[in-house]
Amino acid sequence: MQITNTKDRFGLVAILLHWLMALLLIGLVILGLYMTRIPISAQKLKFYGWHKEFGILALMFVIVRLTWRLTNTNPSLSSLPLWERAAARSVHWAFYGFMFAIPISGWLITSASGLPVSVFGWFVLPNLVSNSEASRLFYTMIHKWLAYGLIVTFCGHVAAALKHHFINKDDILRRMI
Ligand code: HEM
Repeated sequence: MQITNTKDRFGLVAILLHWLMALLLIGLVILGLYMTRIPISAQKLKFYGWHKEFGILALMFVIVRLTWRLTNTNPSLSSLPLWERAAARSVHWAFYGFMFAIPISGWLITSASGLPVSVFGWFVLPNLVSNSEASRLFYTMIHKWLAYGLIVTFCGHVAAALKHHFINKDDILRRMI
């Protein structure tokens, strides 16, 4: 398999980044939903710490991923009708929007709470805004609704991939595996 993409399929780097990000985002959504719904405890604080660290890791990955996307050929979608091509491209760019906006809004929540974001003990991120309860509530709402938007978009994306594989029987899903 080639490292870079070709006009017909994705290369190794794009495939690895796609599935790693998928795992990371699913894990972060499940952890985020769970940790916010359990009573306060040492466990809850540990989960918040993991959520922040892996969330920043997702932000670092998406920078690499977008750079790779913009500097590589992309497999063509020309076999699809125009509306489906437009829908696919919109969903892919919406994912990039979510993958940047969700971790940045999470970083804003932590900043507004006056807490530092330590990334696996490697380094500490600077606070983006000053400590304020009103801002914390505002960024929490943004973070939550963006995450819900990501879940809805993700369901549409998976449904479309499965439709191509099992109903249309084309190579859209296979070229990302
Ligand atoms: C792509 C990455 C991320 C995803 C998909 C994600 C997803 C989520 C989800 C689903 C929730 C639960 C929302 C709810 O129903 O109340 C949540 C909560 C939270 N997230 Fe994230 N998150 C990400 C990155 C981050 C980052 C980088 C930080 C901080 C550095 C962060 C900080 C928080 C905090 C503090 C909460 C709890 C807010 C509260 O107390 O209500 N998140 N996140």
